[in-house]
Amino acid sequence: MMITMVFAGYETTASALGFALYVLATNPDLQAEFHAELDEVLDGDRSTFETVDDLEFTRRILKETLRLYPPIHTLPRQTTQPVNIGDYHLPADEEVHLSVLSVHRDD
Ligand code: HEM
Repeated sequence: MMITMVFAGYETTASALGFALYVLATNPDLQAEFHAELDEVLDGDRSTFETVDDLEFTRRILKETLRLYPPIHTLPRQTTQPVNIGDYHLPADEEVHLSVLSVHRDD
């Protein structure tokens, strides 16, 4: 449990929050709307499991941050048998890296 939290949960969450702050810092309009939602929904309180679902704009900022700056940008996989993907042929036991970053963008 501890190892899961530290290796799978810590750096990913830190990266996501860091980039969310970057997005807010570089988009003053978004930041203003974000603060307005916090004021309206939380009214100075901390968020809880009961109120977190009401932070719709905040959730959209986090989702868009994860799309633009995915903390895990590539996923390694290993083929178990030969496979054709489009024009590409992959033999068995080949290591393949899926680019999350590219899938999330259209440029
Ligand atoms: C923004 C935060 C996070 C991101 C972006 C993220 C991303 C990912 C991704 C992309 C995978 C799939 C890896 C793969 O299939 O190769 C994964 C799996 C996993 N993550 Fe996270 N993660 C986050 C937070 C956390 C947290 C907080 C925990 C635990 C407290 C956690 C625990 C795990 C575990 C245990 C797996 C493996 C699941 C499985 O084997 O089916 N993650 N995560």
